[in-house]
Amino acid sequence: MPNKHLKNDKTSPKLPDYYQRTYVAWYEWFSRIYDPFIKVLFFIINGGFGGEKRWRQLIIEWIDPWPGEKIIDICCGTGTLSIMLGQRLAGAGEVMGIDLSSRLLNQARKKHKPEEVTFLEGDAQKIPFSQGYFDKAVICGALHEMPREVRRRVLAEAHRVIRPNGRIVVVEHNNPEKKWKRSLFDFLERFNPEYQTYRDLLKCGLIDEIERAGFRVVRTSVVSWEFFQIVLAQS
Ligand SMILES: C[S@@+](CC[C@H](N)C(=O)[O-])C[C@H]1O[C@@H](n2cnc3c(N)ncnc32)[C@H](O)[C@@H]1O
Repeated sequence: MPNKHLKNDKTSPKLPDYYQRTYVAWYEWFSRIYDPFIKVLFFIINGGFGGEKRWRQLIIEWIDPWPGEKIIDICCGTGTLSIMLGQRLAGAGEVMGIDLSSRLLNQARKKHKPEEVTFLEGDAQKIPFSQGYFDKAVICGALHEMPREVRRRVLAEAHRVIRPNGRIVVVEHNNPEKKWKRSLFDFLERFNPEYQTYRDLLKCGLIDEIERAGFRVVRTSVVSWEFFQIVLAQS
């Protein structure tokens, strides 16, 4: 159902160059195995069966959704988190997922109930909603895929669409304390197309990047075998 607050409801946005170069082909085939891959990954790093669900539930606890709230899942991918948020609000509120990948969104649309969540194909650098429209936002596992200037524009855009004193939860790959774990994660990341942008995010620092966009960081935690960091911030 079209949302009357959407400033521009057009589908198939012009893809930014970095995405065209690196991710279109990657998500073309990866979209088919994305959900099972994530399940296996979280089986390994988050305590066996149900690992992914527990991890996403934890993120939802950090978002702390309340009936009537409007929440946006920025870079929602196959929409698993958006759908869980939609189920939590059960129609008493509004959940929107935005992503550039039509392939991943196709997977999301196969799983969702339209009354619980709306998916939108679009660039998170230009979210088609007015200033302060959303109460809360989440960006899960996406900032490390973006070049620095894109990452900064996405965070600034998140700040724009969240109301004053609204909250954002950012989940990202972590840089572990232990050297052997750092080396292991670095080795594994080398197989990803996002290796350079991942390194740049570590260099800039996730918390610094979030604060740079105008947020005040309230709480952080390292989870899932130190593989991920969760940050809660206020606008
Ligand atoms: C690793 S996936 C994470 C997906 C999802 N948040 C999750 O938790 O499974 C990263 C996502 O970021 C999306 N993405 C990257 N750059 C984007 C941009 N500029 N605008 C919208 N989505 C973007 C990709 O298409 C991909 O779906």
